[in-house]
Amino acid sequence: MAEIIAAVTTSHVPSIGIAMDSGITQDPYWKPLFDGYLPAKEFVKELKPDVTIVVYNDHGLEVFLDRVPTFGIGAAAQYLSGDEGWGPRPIPPFQGDPELSWHLIEHLVAQEFDMTMFQEMTVDHGFTVPMSVFFGGPAGEVEEWPTRVIPITVNTIQFPLPMAARCFKLGQAIRKAVDAYPKDTRVLIMGTGGMSHQLQGERSGFMQPNFDRMFLDKMVTDPMALTKIPNGVFMKEAGHEGAELIMWLVARGAMNLEVEEVYQHYHVSASLTAAGLACYRNK
Ligand code: DHB
Ligand code: FE
Repeated sequence: MAEIIAAVTTSHVPSIGIAMDSGITQDPYWKPLFDGYLPAKEFVKELKPDVTIVVYNDHGLEVFLDRVPTFGIGAAAQYLSGDEGWGPRPIPPFQGDPELSWHLIEHLVAQEFDMTMFQEMTVDHGFTVPMSVFFGGPAGEVEEWPTRVIPITVNTIQFPLPMAARCFKLGQAIRKAVDAYPKDTRVLIMGTGGMSHQLQGERSGFMQPNFDRMFLDKMVTDPMALTKIPNGVFMKEAGHEGAELIMWLVARGAMNLEVEEVYQHYHVSASLTAAGLACYRNK
């Protein structure tokens, strides 16, 4: 039987990937952030997931504004880092798990989540940076990823975005679908994006540690309260791109209502973003 063994969540700032790829993680600016990642890497190393479901948003690499799926899922055998302007990241290819992907698609559609299916897809920083944060390190450290992957995309770019409650329910549906998979498979679910940040306009650089701390607390104590936050409120309180936090709620929805927070790290800032990370186990 397959099982979701844990959830992890993190911000996915591109410059964090650049810092790893260019070997400057020990510079004074970056060291406190990367030091805070070490216990999370240990946690994931001990978990040894066979498959990691990465819930993220594509930022205009694989899908652009002309056609935007609200929810998408990869069904490819392999996923490569795309070129977002810095060239593809110098990391190994990610191996997929098409059999589990198609199982998830069947079971999600049966639960009325009509996913867009990607049989080919490149992945952007929303996917690759968190994978490096939890499984990787400086460029060259990882020769082969120790887990297969399944990307799940959530539209956080083109209005209207799916509501927080809908994202949580997608997580619940993923959980049911994984539970129904007959092969022994250890599945980690990862939610990426956030925390508070706004990259453009008059409020560029907006960060809100009070909101982020509230969000981190309620991820454990009252996730249902987070599902009631309208996307407009996320944008007002956590900055325009702070609404990416709805992807943490997909990961949270795939867990029991009661979870234990094994580890948390919060750092202001990485570039213009408040960077948060957390690891959860079912109680
Ligand atoms: C940046 C991009 C992101 O997608 C994000 O979530 C945070 C920061 C950036 O370009 O700095
Ligand atoms: Fe983002």
